[in-house]
Amino acid sequence: MKYIDKIKTASLKEDALILAIESSCDETAGSVIKGGREILSSVIMSSMTEHIPFGGVVPEIASRMHTTAISLTVEKAVKDAGITLNDLDAIAVTFGSGLIGALLVGVSYAKALAFSLGIPLIPVNHVRGHVSAGYLTDKALKPPFICLLASGGHTAIIDVKDYVDFEVLGGTLDDAAGEAFDKVARVLGLSYPGGPNVERLAREGENNIELPVMLKGKSGYDFSYSGLKTAVINYVHTKEQKGEYYNKADIACSFQSSALDVLIKKALQAVKERGYKVLSIGGGVSANGYLRENLIKECEKSGVKLVLPEKKLCTDNASMIGAEGYIQYLRKNFADIDLNANAFIDITATR
Ligand code: KG4
Ligand code: ZN
Repeated sequence: MKYIDKIKTASLKEDALILAIESSCDETAGSVIKGGREILSSVIMSSMTEHIPFGGVVPEIASRMHTTAISLTVEKAVKDAGITLNDLDAIAVTFGSGLIGALLVGVSYAKALAFSLGIPLIPVNHVRGHVSAGYLTDKALKPPFICLLASGGHTAIIDVKDYVDFEVLGGTLDDAAGEAFDKVARVLGLSYPGGPNVERLAREGENNIELPVMLKGKSGYDFSYSGLKTAVINYVHTKEQKGEYYNKADIACSFQSSALDVLIKKALQAVKERGYKVLSIGGGVSANGYLRENLIKECEKSGVKLVLPEKKLCTDNASMIGAEGYIQYLRKNFADIDLNANAFIDITATR
């Protein structure tokens, strides 16, 4: 019997043990999730320090580091969960979007392991994984709700109508929010990763530099970070050319407010417009303290319940891939061993 035919007939378990593997960027991560909502283990190995001298992730270095880290990561995730490989019911793996060489390491490893154990292989969309971090945070969370997604590659307001039915209400027309943080960090002389470093510097500054208002006069849920980023770069370059003093902390603080206030406003607008009661957040930028504090305040004011994943569930991790993997497991969205990595998939794609 062919592998795919065999696993299609596998009986589903409500408390399934799923091993999840994530390798889309510079984190090699493994996690075991029970019943879709309980984290039994989470291991994250990052190659970040290797990329710092280059000011950003170098795809070849990331891939090489994944190949050396993947076995150790998976072995530790299984061991920390107090189980053995034979206890697993399925393997979930990020197949897109991300760096193709990096994704391929996780996909190849997951395929080989699923095939050898004779258990289902579940392809997971990385962005859907970020949304599913909410289910690990609030065990009672159920659609419908709005998810504010802000990472290094994506920025979007998503109407999560059902576990698998997403409507993207709007998104960035150019750079993602995290990408803008990384580029602004670079012009301010801060090292990679830019987001946390801009946040740290912003705490010492004031919001006193006027920056362009994003998509001025336009309603709706779209974003544009390119103009804001360019305004910061031009501000710094002009000051440098004139030999004038400028306060980097004030720039960081003003940029951070301009970049994030609009996310808060539009996310709450979406909750109200759809008549929902719950907002959740996901993606690396949602680890930002300014965003989190202000979302808490604004949600309290508007009577909206906020599902705020802890910071380590906002940035890349495998537990969120396991949570999303469980949703796909229940729908028997299984892949055959010809599953391939895909650098660019739609936010809502499940295959
Ligand atoms: O979700 P993530 O870990 O990876 C992607 O899927 O892209 O997001 C990484 C992005 C980077 O651009 C990083 O600078 C940003 O999230 N980020 C932050 C913070 N922590 C990470 N941005 C702002 N403030 C932070 N504290
Ligand atoms: Zn991510």
